[in-house]
Amino acid sequence: MLPADDRDVLGADYRKALRDFVADGGERPLHQAYEIGRGALHSGFSMLQLINLHHHSVRTLLQEQPEFRGTIFDKLERTERFLVECLSPFEVLQLGNREAMEALKRLNAILEEEAKRIAHVLHDEAAQLLAAVYLELAELQHDAPASEAVRTRATRITGHLDQVREQLRRLSHELRPPILDKFGLLPALEFLADGYRKRAGLQVTVTGVLAGRLPAAIETAFYRVVQEALNNVSRHAHAHRVEIRIRRISGRVRCSITDDGVGFDHRGLWHRSGDKGLGLVGIQERVSALHGTLDIRSSPNSGTQLLISIPSGKR
Ligand SMILES: Nc1ncnc2c1ncn2[C@@H]1O[C@H](COP(=O)(O)OP(=O)(O)OP(=O)(O)O)[C@@H](O)[C@H]1O
Ligand SMILES: [Mg+2]
Repeated sequence: MLPADDRDVLGADYRKALRDFVADGGERPLHQAYEIGRGALHSGFSMLQLINLHHHSVRTLLQEQPEFRGTIFDKLERTERFLVECLSPFEVLQLGNREAMEALKRLNAILEEEAKRIAHVLHDEAAQLLAAVYLELAELQHDAPASEAVRTRATRITGHLDQVREQLRRLSHELRPPILDKFGLLPALEFLADGYRKRAGLQVTVTGVLAGRLPAAIETAFYRVVQEALNNVSRHAHAHRVEIRIRRISGRVRCSITDDGVGFDHRGLWHRSGDKGLGLVGIQERVSALHGTLDIRSSPNSGTQLLISIPSGKR
């Protein structure tokens, strides 16, 4: 929001250029309109404020100069052209935003494909290598009957291999859970929650009703969002419990992730510079790309709640 003095200056510039344009037309005041629009955009003026300023200025002009009233429709047409010129920097920005969102959607789709590929390599190829190691170990034990001590070590190695196999399986499933593609969001979130219960010792509950499947992009987005949120809880929150609720109402899917941890001050999160985290910004961008919203409720010592709402679209 602009300080009142700056708003007055902008208002005066606007009225003067508009008055010139309405009186004589010409390119110069239109150029000024564009510059005023650019200045307003950079100073944080909203489009609504600019439209208000426009209406206020038109009213002032009509009061100041009664002769305008005679040819009111011509004059009004000019004021409209003037306003359009002034709003065009906003239009350019909006188009740029739309293109950026489309690029982001494509990037997310590429990342998902890459995650699938890595999950596949981990699951199949690494698992095959492991199977070969199991086999070699078994053959070694068979070919060279060993002492008790060697047999104990071999059993220990097999135990480690079991753990590696289990971790690989879990990692590859979390990277791109087949359960998400096959059974949908709720079972996939349950699976994710289970991993955090086991690995991070968190009490995670998942509740919700979705009644059928959602478009793949939305299911993937919610899965990634909850994954990052749980990641944050386990790394930063010192929480005991996390509650994930998801439901579909009035054409939207709404999801909340609530923890009972230490909370944080999230004001200024979007304006941080330097080597800062990307998780919450990533959530925000993923959600915006699907025309959704993210709301963060948190303050130090009062836990954190993320609220995400995305239009449910058609599958
Ligand atoms: N549930 C939470 N409880 C407490 N603090 C949190 C929570 N979620 C986020 N934060 C705070 O917000 C900061 C920003 O989170 P964000 O996910 O954007 O980055 P990060 O987790 O630090 O790094 P990255 O996600 O890129 O690995 C965190 O560093 C942490 O201080
Ligand atoms: Mg994070």
